[in-house]
Amino acid sequence: MSRSRLLSLALLACTLHAAHPVRARKAMVVAQEPHATDAGVAVLQSGGNAIDAAVAVGFALAVTHPTAGNLGGGGFLLLRKSTGETTFLDFRERAPAKATRNMYLDDKGNLTRDSLEGWRAAGVPGTVHGLALAHQKYGSKPWAELLAPAIKLAKGFPVTYSVSKSLQNSELLAKFPESRRIFQRNGRFYEPDELLIQPELGRTLERIAKHGPRDFYEGETAKKFAAEMAANGGLITLEDLKNYRTAERKPLTGAYRGYDIITAPPPSSGGLGILHIMGILESSGYTAHGAGSAAAIHYVAEAMRRYYADRAEYLADPDFVKVPVSGLLNKQYIAARKATIDPARASSSDSIRQGKPPANESTETTHFSIIDAQGNSVALTYTLNGSYGNGVTVPGLGFLLNNEMDDFSAKPGEPNMFGLVQGEANAIQPGKRPLSSMTPTIILKDGKLFMVVGAPGGSRIITGVLQVILNVIDFGMNAQDAVDAPRFHHQWQPDKLSLERGFSPDTIELLKSRGHTVDSISSVANVEAIVVQKDGWLSGGTDPRSHGKAAGY
Ligand code: DON
Repeated sequence: MSRSRLLSLALLACTLHAAHPVRARKAMVVAQEPHATDAGVAVLQSGGNAIDAAVAVGFALAVTHPTAGNLGGGGFLLLRKSTGETTFLDFRERAPAKATRNMYLDDKGNLTRDSLEGWRAAGVPGTVHGLALAHQKYGSKPWAELLAPAIKLAKGFPVTYSVSKSLQNSELLAKFPESRRIFQRNGRFYEPDELLIQPELGRTLERIAKHGPRDFYEGETAKKFAAEMAANGGLITLEDLKNYRTAERKPLTGAYRGYDIITAPPPSSGGLGILHIMGILESSGYTAHGAGSAAAIHYVAEAMRRYYADRAEYLADPDFVKVPVSGLLNKQYIAARKATIDPARASSSDSIRQGKPPANESTETTHFSIIDAQGNSVALTYTLNGSYGNGVTVPGLGFLLNNEMDDFSAKPGEPNMFGLVQGEANAIQPGKRPLSSMTPTIILKDGKLFMVVGAPGGSRIITGVLQVILNVIDFGMNAQDAVDAPRFHHQWQPDKLSLERGFSPDTIELLKSRGHTVDSISSVANVEAIVVQKDGWLSGGTDPRSHGKAAGY
């Protein structure tokens, strides 16, 4: 073993506090809300597969985790079957047919708040379509059985302290009468342990259980939804709903230090991000100073900075724009980007522009991770975008709508909700999907399932998921330690290195002395991970930054 490797292991031994992950012998769900985790585990225990459990968890979260769980949003599902077959279901929202490039600019060309709040912020929802397609192609249990837990939870579930506070504190929900009535009881806020009862949502779920996704895209729900949209100045029509399609795509794959990484392709910028950054890190020796060292943070942050500059320029919906996927993963290109990193000094983002990757040779979100007893695995991230989406609950239907349109470059060059500066490639066009950072990922070791991981967290999803993977692969942490460890984030613009609490003052000083502008942030994503241990047991790490639960049997 090299001296530097020995040193890093020794440092690791001193810094680890070894939290215990949740362990299970056969199957596991790690999700951001306990009722939803329990619904998934019950499906697995009664013989359902990972897709069945994902459908049950997805619908349950739509009831119990209203900040992000949804019917009115969209997301990505990554599946790896125990046979080795993989697929990626892209049920991301699409811009309505009536959407236009400058729809969020006022007459002076300034950005309005319409991409963030209210009816016009919503893209055409994909969640019901995506979960239904997943079930139809890969599920095994009756559809209605998988919606039953969500329907039951809609009849009333006790809100936790955090849900109670989140609902009470939402100024956004208070702006829209139906949201204020349902989620804030017109000011008589829900106390912890009180039952949140959602009869309208329950009836919508019952119709979807009975008639399938047709109800949401063509049937009674669709008609009511389109009528409310029209009455409130929104853009989504019945035609938009009828035309919605989930895109089944080939997952992006790559390798890092002997592990196979299966991850999200565009319109996610996440999979490409982690693979590109891993490409820079692979033979850099960045681990030599140990996890959490200023030297390691500096090097990884510089790699992040460079990827986010490329992200802004090149990444978008591949159905509309040619994304240079293989160019950004090209070994020479990665080596050239890497050569611009000074291990001792921070670059300035103004001096880092997008690179010139070779042309292609050919041409408040939530995440859960599931492994079933057969070894099928699902990583699913879905979202309303901001917390409670655009704030609108569709009257009579009980579900909140997304504000995913803000993920487009509403005005190229101006920052969006996450401070991301994005370019022309991601401009608004009818039918297009906005660029995403969601990064559901599955990792193999020697061809066998090793890790299932993903996170909410806006632009910080990519860097959050990356660091948890690095903590496991490079620093030997268990699933819980890997998720717990403090994280950092750099996204090129704004030019600052953001740190969670937990880094020592000495480390922060060292980073500043390398030239980083350092600020503090409350969290870099909320990562939900399962790692398959050497002895075959599953270990689950749920993120303490949130209120989730890992469970299995
Ligand atoms: O797709 C994206 O990148 C964003 N809409 C994700 C939003 C998100 O993670 C918010 N949750 N914290």
